[in-house]
Amino acid sequence: MSGDPDANTLRDGDSASIFDEQWTIYRKIIDHNYMEHDAILAIIRQLLGSGETTGRLLDLGCGDAELPSRYLPGLRLDAYHGVDRARRPLDFAREKLAMLPLDQHFHHADQNAFQRATGGLNFHVVVLGFALHHNRHAEKAALLAAIRESLAPGGEVLVYDIFLPAGCDRATYFECYLEEVRRAWTALTADEYEHIAAHIREYDFPESMETVQEIGREAGFSQAEKVGTVPGDFHRVIRLA
Ligand SMILES: C[S@@+](CC[C@H](N)C(=O)[O-])C[C@H]1O[C@@H](n2cnc3c(N)ncnc32)[C@H](O)[C@@H]1O
Repeated sequence: MSGDPDANTLRDGDSASIFDEQWTIYRKIIDHNYMEHDAILAIIRQLLGSGETTGRLLDLGCGDAELPSRYLPGLRLDAYHGVDRARRPLDFAREKLAMLPLDQHFHHADQNAFQRATGGLNFHVVVLGFALHHNRHAEKAALLAAIRESLAPGGEVLVYDIFLPAGCDRATYFECYLEEVRRAWTALTADEYEHIAAHIREYDFPESMETVQEIGREAGFSQAEKVGTVPGDFHRVIRLA
């Protein structure tokens, strides 16, 4: 087991990230299951636990590795690579996974530069959790193409994220998602809500599921399917293979 701070492809001045500043708020969101992490975890466990999944797993935008800390135990994977541009959650991830008996690497890097950060390794499972929607359309296409290129034979990609419901565009998404946040995320203070709202308006570029599936097919994946059932209108899991 290594747990080494390798492949720092971001310079010190680049390390400030909105998720460094707002990790406490995001942690509250996970703890209250506001973004359906529990349902997503069940789907990932079913997908990865049902077969003989071995090899390396790449977790892009891993944050503090909350979900892998819950789905990795019991799997037969050999190595975990977490990539995040925010240093603080990456430190928490390192602590959280330290006891697991698999090779571990934490890359302080932009997910769009994961190939350089991970030294051109290939991966048997790639997980993109609530991180793809921060990219613009062209970046999403480039990222999925790079992931396709780095996938080991028989490998698969699990994208869990925010998607635009039918008939919703980015402008209406702001209104309906924030309405949902205001209504249901009751543990947030007014100040925390304002932070979240500002973050969403600045950094969120969700697409419909159909658009992400189409980008996946254009990137060379022959399968691009929605898997499992996640409550609510916005959070879903797509499997690309
Ligand atoms: C909403 S959090 C999701 C964390 C975790 N994957 C989860 O399932 O809860 C998004 C994470 O992606 C990271 N992130 C966003 N854009 C990134 C990028 N371009 N490169 C690397 N990390 C990024 C953020 O720092 C943050 O930790």
